Amino acid sequence: MALETVAHLDEIPLGTRKVVKAGGHKLLLLHLETGFYATQAYCPHLLAPLKSGKLLNGHVLQCPFHRAQFDVTSGDVIRWANFPPGIQALNVLRGERCLATYPVVIEGDQIRVDIR
Ligand code: FES
Repeated sequence: MALETVAHLDEIPLGTRKVVKAGGHKLLLLHLETGFYATQAYCPHLLAPLKSGKLLNGHVLQCPFHRAQFDVTSGDVIRWANFPPGIQALNVLRGERCLATYPVVIEGDQIRVDIR
């Protein structure tokens, strides 16, 4: 385990998200009803910044560019890039890729991420 402090609890109230740095990478830290989650900050399709993505069903993040959807609790792809119509042709070259996720540990008032 390689835990790194990325933020303090009061920086990320429930329902908010923030881009943080850990291990030389930018991560997206989300505070959901079920806890804190850390994912890669950029979409694995074509690197859109996921911070501005839409949250669906409490834990699914939709990419702002081509609307791929990821479960931020597992990194699983719920739906791959599908907007605008015709983007599927590009998907032959940029096939489905899971979102990288990182375990989050709360220690005192510190939010720590296992960057492995
Ligand atoms: S960049 Fe995210 S779906 Fe294309």
